[in-house]
Amino acid sequence: MNVQKLLFKRKSIRKYIDKAIEPEKIDALKKAALLSPTGKRKNHWDFIFIENKTTLNKLADSKIHGSKLLSNAALAVAVIGDNKVSDTWIEDCSIASIIIQLQAEELGLGSCWVQIHKRQHSEHLMSEDYVRNILNIPDSKNVLSIIAIGYPEGERPANKEDDLLWDKIHEERF
Ligand SMILES: Cc1cc2nc3c(=O)[nH]c(=O)nc-3n(C[C@H](O)[C@H](O)[C@H](O)COP(=O)(O)O)c2cc1C
Repeated sequence: MNVQKLLFKRKSIRKYIDKAIEPEKIDALKKAALLSPTGKRKNHWDFIFIENKTTLNKLADSKIHGSKLLSNAALAVAVIGDNKVSDTWIEDCSIASIIIQLQAEELGLGSCWVQIHKRQHSEHLMSEDYVRNILNIPDSKNVLSIIAIGYPEGERPANKEDDLLWDKIHEERF
């Protein structure tokens, strides 16, 4: 699929059917993650691929709103960075997150970004600390997002040319 078609087709998918993702597709997702660029080529990121249902259910409780969808995903990818190694860790991990999502779309899978960084699990616990504990991530590392992936349940209509926010595009000056 060409990139423009892929971009129109991609929508956040939060409901998945109960079907495992083939190992070749998981392999392609791993390659996509490792192909994502980083500032100064620091490559400080790490990616945890999770298929274990018990772990997915625990991750679904990472925050009060917006993480429950992880419980019916076939796969979750935790995107981890290191703010001691790179001052562009958020940008780098964001790029990796969307590249994983686009690769998933191209493979016929649906995906959704679950924000972890700066989110609260509960009054006294940050989502990052909750996730660190479940996935055994060192305290020195940062967790930006978890990308939920699976075969979509139903179809979401693609983005439409008519809905593009053309007034956000400026020529030469704001
Ligand atoms: C930085 C970022 C954080 C997001 N966090 C969440 C989240 O925690 N939970 C969720 O269900 N969707 C999350 N989303 C998905 C957005 O809600 C979604 O991309 C947006 O509504 C546009 O819809 P679309 O992706 O279908 O085009 C996030 C997206 C981005 C880019």
